[in-house]
Amino acid sequence: MTTTRRTAICLTAASVGGVGALSACASTQDSEKKSAGARVATSDVPEGGGLVRDGVVVTQPRPGEFKAFDVRCPHQGCAVDQVTAEAIVCPCHGSQFALADGAVTQGPATEGLTPRTATVDGADVVVS
Ligand code: FES
Repeated sequence: MTTTRRTAICLTAASVGGVGALSACASTQDSEKKSAGARVATSDVPEGGGLVRDGVVVTQPRPGEFKAFDVRCPHQGCAVDQVTAEAIVCPCHGSQFALADGAVTQGPATEGLTPRTATVDGADVVVS
């Protein structure tokens, strides 16, 4: 088995910090796996709302303005799965995040969603 530097760091963290550290490490790797990006039609993203697709959240807080975030909730790593007119919602413990910048609007999360780059390319929003 080939051990990458990242794997070695995770194993070390687990042996020193226990299960919590291992869990955090695994979450980081999961998040990195989801970073491949996504392409969605601008017409699929409702104004004043958004959608979740391919590991990212794409919102349109104002007409023609698109934002994107990683789906991973910073509280304990669940995937946010709902976008309402008011917020991006995590199903696990109810944290909510702002459509415009991913900031926490309701805990228990204490940090906002990780922003992604959203670029309009013709009729699509490309998330990278
Ligand atoms: S994991 Fe999202 S609120 Fe706990």
